[in-house]
Amino acid sequence: MLAVSVLVVALVSQTAARYTADWTSLDARPLPPWYDEAKVGIFVHWGVFSVPGFGSEWFWWHWQGQQPPDQKCVSYMSKNYPPGFSYPEFAPQFQAQFFNPEDWADIFKASGAKYVVLTAKHHEGFTNWESPNSWNWNSVDTGPHRDLVGDLGEAVRNRSLHYGLYNSLYEWFHPLYLIDKKNGFKTQEFVLHKLLPELYNMVVRYRPEVIWSDGDWEAPDTYWNSTQFLAWLYNDSPVKDTIVTNDRWGSGCACKHGGYYNCEDKYTPGQLPKHKWEKCTSVDTLSWGYRRNMKMSELMNLPTIIEDLVRTVALGGNYLLNVGPTPDGMIPTVFEERLRGVGAWLEINGEAIYASEPWRVQYENTTVPVWYTFKGTAVYAIMTTKPPKLTLQLLGPKTSATTKVTLLGNPHSLPWSPVYPNAGLTVLLPELPYSPGQAWTLRLDGIK
Ligand SMILES: *[C@@H]1O[C@H](CO)[C@@H](O)[C@H](O)[C@H]1NC(C)=O
Ligand SMILES: *[C@@H]1O[C@H](CO)[C@@H](O)[C@H](O)[C@H]1NC(C)=O
Ligand SMILES: *[C@@H]1O[C@H](CO)[C@@H](O)[C@H](O)[C@H]1NC(C)=O
Repeated sequence: MLAVSVLVVALVSQTAARYTADWTSLDARPLPPWYDEAKVGIFVHWGVFSVPGFGSEWFWWHWQGQQPPDQKCVSYMSKNYPPGFSYPEFAPQFQAQFFNPEDWADIFKASGAKYVVLTAKHHEGFTNWESPNSWNWNSVDTGPHRDLVGDLGEAVRNRSLHYGLYNSLYEWFHPLYLIDKKNGFKTQEFVLHKLLPELYNMVVRYRPEVIWSDGDWEAPDTYWNSTQFLAWLYNDSPVKDTIVTNDRWGSGCACKHGGYYNCEDKYTPGQLPKHKWEKCTSVDTLSWGYRRNMKMSELMNLPTIIEDLVRTVALGGNYLLNVGPTPDGMIPTVFEERLRGVGAWLEINGEAIYASEPWRVQYENTTVPVWYTFKGTAVYAIMTTKPPKLTLQLLGPKTSATTKVTLLGNPHSLPWSPVYPNAGLTVLLPELPYSPGQAWTLRLDGIK
């Protein structure tokens, strides 16, 4: 009898754990905990678009897709390339001759990021791996003649970083996609014969821990078979226990369905969202892909990046910071410097970031802007501006007899006095040390 009921319980709990191909079921899946704890990731946009390196990774569309075309792209081509030069002719110039995945992974590790997301396939349709469904339009048949997705994955995982893959659902110019589009997405030639076989294959081959889906907005999730794919991913795929996905699975899905929410690119909520989210943003403010004509003034500087990261984490988000490598496989040194700067800041202040949670109060600007996080018994107050004097007033925390204040990176506890009985405190700061991100963290213990 006991054996039978154990068996029944086992069967019931097995059944209960399976997801069905509808949003009610899929949306109820808890996010694997590694993702929220990680907080910081690196996004990498790399593909044939890195070769023209002009405008952005949307170059092909701006040049030959949209009507009317972008005149800057048209004249860039007519001035620099022979008449009739076609976009696929850029592929052989995607050489990746200096690509050393170990060097990239060292830089990503040094940035303090805990995960890396590479474009496996952007809207141009070129796959950075030998997809059997992308004949002669992939990085092994042409260009680098190399499995970029596999090679980077190995180096990234070797440094105990999680590895994710960006995948565009739509492809601007794929003939089957264009047929379906013409049919008002009542047919699924592209989805059944290109997208899905490729996606299943990609997951089984590379076992990504994030699928960063994109390019979903022209058609509903029913066209993309998104819920069927996700049910397989969560129930039966080799990454069912660790995989995390975003919210771009069909028009109307963003900010509503899927795993964590990206909502829109560079989404910056004003208040604490109810659902786990991620801000993706790019060091180059004008592009995700490499631009040959990028200027220093168009890049985020380190204090801006740190402020953005801190705000995102204080509001419960993850921060996915993008860099665009060159077609020859280098991470531009200015991007490397930014990433190492983020890592230097996290080296001291990471205690307030990794595995933290949003606090009761997320922000105040009594003396200077301060963002709060908390973890265990500690509340962290991160100043993103240097206070003009050596006293800092905080009104959010409620103090007690055991309240203790320290500055991360400094072993001494700091003198403080209450502003009101049990509410607010004035902290006497030491001379603040150099901070690579111009942001300093106070650790507060024994407060409410
Ligand atoms: C990374 O590679 C080295 C050398 O091949 C190996 O000894 C080590 O176990 C690997 N580490 C991880 C986390 O895979
Ligand atoms: C796609 O979805 C339809 C139902 O809308 C289903 O019949 C079919 O099996 C699905 N195909 C795949 C490959 O998921
Ligand atoms: C913080 O307050 C100061 C003084 O009122 C103001 O000048 C500053 O713009 C505020 N900062 C932010 C980020 O709101």
